[in-house]
Amino acid sequence: MRCCNKDKIEKTFFIETWGCQMNEEDSEKLSGMLKKMGYIRTESKINADLIILNTCCVRENAELKVYGHLGALKKMKRENPNLIIALCGCMMQQKHMAENIIKKFPFVDIIFGTHNAYKFPQYLNTVRQENSSVVEIQDRETGIVEGIPIDRESTVKAFVTIMYGCNNFCTYCIVPYVRGRERSRNPVNIEDEIKDLVSKGYKEITLLGQNVNSYGKDLVPKVKFSQLLRRINGIEGLDRIRFMTSHPKDLTEDVIDAVLECDKVCEQIHLPVQSGSNNILKRMNRNYSKEQYLELIYKIRKKIPEAAITTDIMVGFPGESEEDFEETLNLAKEVEYDSAFTFIYSRRKGTPADKLEEQVPENIKHERFNRLVEVVNESSAKKNKVYEGKIEEILVEGLSKNNSAKLMGRTRTGKLVNFQGDVDSIGRLVKVRISKAHSFSLSGKQI
Ligand code: 5AD
Ligand code: SF4
Repeated sequence: MRCCNKDKIEKTFFIETWGCQMNEEDSEKLSGMLKKMGYIRTESKINADLIILNTCCVRENAELKVYGHLGALKKMKRENPNLIIALCGCMMQQKHMAENIIKKFPFVDIIFGTHNAYKFPQYLNTVRQENSSVVEIQDRETGIVEGIPIDRESTVKAFVTIMYGCNNFCTYCIVPYVRGRERSRNPVNIEDEIKDLVSKGYKEITLLGQNVNSYGKDLVPKVKFSQLLRRINGIEGLDRIRFMTSHPKDLTEDVIDAVLECDKVCEQIHLPVQSGSNNILKRMNRNYSKEQYLELIYKIRKKIPEAAITTDIMVGFPGESEEDFEETLNLAKEVEYDSAFTFIYSRRKGTPADKLEEQVPENIKHERFNRLVEVVNESSAKKNKVYEGKIEEILVEGLSKNNSAKLMGRTRTGKLVNFQGDVDSIGRLVKVRISKAHSFSLSGKQI
C-alpha cells in the first residue's frame, strides 16, 4: 500500500460531510475503509494527505458550499501536489454536476457517486499508484453491499440503515434520482449489526431509511417494519430504538402499536408534512390530504399522548398562494410540533417541480419562511415548557457543548438536555430533574 516514494509513513484523511444521515453514514463507511487501509483521521484539512468532500444536492445552497470549498482547495493542491482530493455523494451522482466539476476544478483526483462508494479503496489505490485521476459514477444502484467497516462518531448511539433509496418521487425532490429505488436490508444482517454494536457498548440505535414504513416490501418473504421493530426490541443490552423517516401515507397502525408496546422504542415520530394545503400536497405528489395527515396525528396522540411529533415543512413550492401558505401555518399551529425542520423550496434540475411555471419569488419565499419559523418556535417552546419540574430518563451522550462541567443527553422523546451530573454516567441511562425549558433544549440536574 505504501507504494509512492513520496509517501510518508502515516497518511491522514479529512472528510467534510453535507446533508442527511445517509450521507453521514456513507462518510462513516469511507472512514471505516480508510482506517482499515492504515489511514488516520484528522479533524483539520491542513496537512491532510487526503481530503474527501461528501456532497448533498437536496437544496441549492448545499451545492454552493461545495463550490466555495473547492475554491480554497485549489490553492492547497497547488502548494502540495501530493494532496489527493476526492468528491463523492449525491451531488456527484448527477451527471451534469460531475461534468461541471471536471471542467471547472480539474485538480480533483477522484469523483464517484452514491452507488459505488464501496469501491473507494480501489479508486484511491489507482490514483496513488498510477498518478492518474478516477471518475466513476454508476447510473444504477447495485444490490446492498454488506460488511463495510463503519467508523462511527459516537460510542453511545448509532445510526443503522435498514433500507436504501426511495420510490416516492415527490415532485420537488432529487433523492430518488441520486439514491435509486428502495432496497431493504435483510433483517438478519440488521439484527447482527445491532447486536455487534451492543457488544461494543452502544445503547441507542436509530433505524434509517427515506421511508422506513416501506421497509421489507421488496424482501422475500415480505417483512413489515413493525415486525422489524419488535424483533430489534428483543435485543438484550440495547436501551433505545428510534427510527426515521416515516412517510404519512405509509405510517400504519401496527407501527404506532409497536411504538406503544415495545419498551425500547422511543416515543418520537418524525412525520414530514411538507405543506398544509391539499392543492400543494397534490402538486407535490405526496399522496395524502391535510385531513388524512391530521387524522394520523390524532391517532398517534390518542394512543401515545406523550409522543413527540416532529416534521419537515417547505414554503414556496411552485404555485403556493398566500392562502395555501396560510393553510400550512394553520396546520402547524394546530399540530403544535415539538420541532420542525423548515425549508425554502429550492429548484432541482431534473425534478418535475422545476418545470412548473408558477415559481414563487424569492422575497415572498423568505417572508413566508420567517412567519413559519415563528409559529414553529412558539410550539417548540410550549412543548418544552411542559418538561419543567419533571424527572426524565436521559441517555447520557457526552459532555455538553454549552459548558464542559455539564453533560448532555436526550429524553426518550428526543429532547436535548444539558445537565449537571456525574461524568461517569456517560453511556448510561440516568434520571434528571428538568429545571428549565429553553426554545431548543432543556436544562436540569442529575438525581
Ligand atoms: N427544496 C427544499 N426542500 C427540500 N426538501 C427536499 N427537497 C427539497 C427541495 N427541492 C426537504 C423536504 C424533505 C427534507 C429532507 O428536505 O422537506 O423532507
Ligand atoms: Fe424525497 Fe419524497 Fe422520497 Fe422523502 S419521500 S426522499 S421527500 S421523494
